[in-house]
Amino acid sequence: SIPVITIDGPSASGKGTIAQLVAKKLAFHYLDSGALYRLVALSVIQSNVDSTNESALADIALNLNVRFHDSSLQLNGEDVTNSIRTEECGKLASIIARQLKVRAALLQRQRAFRQPPGLVTDGRDMGTVVFPDATLKIFLTASAEERAQRRYKQLIEKGINANIQTLLQDIYERDARDSTRDISPLKQGEDTKLLDTTSLSIEEVVNEVLRLYNA
Ligand code: CDP
Repeated sequence: SIPVITIDGPSASGKGTIAQLVAKKLAFHYLDSGALYRLVALSVIQSNVDSTNESALADIALNLNVRFHDSSLQLNGEDVTNSIRTEECGKLASIIARQLKVRAALLQRQRAFRQPPGLVTDGRDMGTVVFPDATLKIFLTASAEERAQRRYKQLIEKGINANIQTLLQDIYERDARDSTRDISPLKQGEDTKLLDTTSLSIEEVVNEVLRLYNA
């Protein structure tokens, strides 16, 4: 079957950066599953839909008109690469991600990214729910303080205003929400390799993932 490497982990653990670099090295496709949840959140914000209306949200998720272009993203023809990265969007993404209908609506869309020669994907439930038969499953983590620092740098580089204390608070809240929800909670599967990246460089982490994949 077509190889899949899943990289799951908490908010701002570096999943996206690592997954993209690994995908590049292997010339595999890349899926940022969190972006899909963020796109649903952005659509909700833009359309003024009630975020507790599960059917309406599932409808939005099923009919997302999205185009992935290397590292940029279009929603209904509009470039939303940066607008889905705000904390507002991330927060709402994590709230609507608790809804079973939303998760179900995104399932097939995610699985469709499994194309030759292979896929690297990151999220919360890529190894546990979406690709349970993945070739390699990584659980990527780092201390909350380190993750807040990384998120801060990432936002500032994008020209988005940020406050480190607020980010740390958001990370604690997001961790709690993502790991305590009933459906597809963030958890480390038994068949997963744990990688704590608190004191590792990006290159060290990428090399470790490639080593595990080739082992
Ligand atoms: O990197 P960060 O945690 O800020 O966000 P993300 O990976 O873009 O995901 C945003 C939110 O979507 C997360 O807080 C999760 O609640 C949700 N999500 C999910 O439930 N399942 C996934 N596979 C990916 C994201």
